[in-house]
Amino acid sequence: MDGPTFRLGRRRFLVLAGVGVGAAGGVACGSGAGVQPASVGDVSAGNVSSLPVGSLRALEGEPVCIGRDSGGVYAMTLTCTHAGCDIGTTGEVSPSGLVCGCHGSRFDANGNVVSGPAPSPLDHFAVSADAAGNLTIHGGQVVGASVRLVVMG
Ligand code: FES
Repeated sequence: MDGPTFRLGRRRFLVLAGVGVGAAGGVACGSGAGVQPASVGDVSAGNVSSLPVGSLRALEGEPVCIGRDSGGVYAMTLTCTHAGCDIGTTGEVSPSGLVCGCHGSRFDANGNVVSGPAPSPLDHFAVSADAAGNLTIHGGQVVGASVRLVVMG
């Protein structure tokens, strides 16, 4: 087992302390180039029960998005790495990917650049869940793009 687990009824959450976890307030391991993500701190992101596998959606009023794939739950900045536009307000966020409305950069659903001018991928943020499955995005904690909050059971 890697990392702590949380139990909720028949569900179990496993927080992966996966590759490239940055320390809160410390050295980030994200894009490394381009515009840094807007600061958001901790953001409530709804309940995991309303985030089916295959989801990716922007949070209203915050420059972050939350998604869930076959590996688990993840979150990313919506600050475009080209010139800092908020993709959530100027572009499109969907399970098929993200499009920045300022200059047309495209990212896949895991934040990798599909086409520029964005020079680097979108940073991922840590996600946690309480015992009831309520999700919190930790915008001060950049993690590797493969890190997931695993929902089991
Ligand atoms: Fe997003 Fe230029 S700011 S493509």
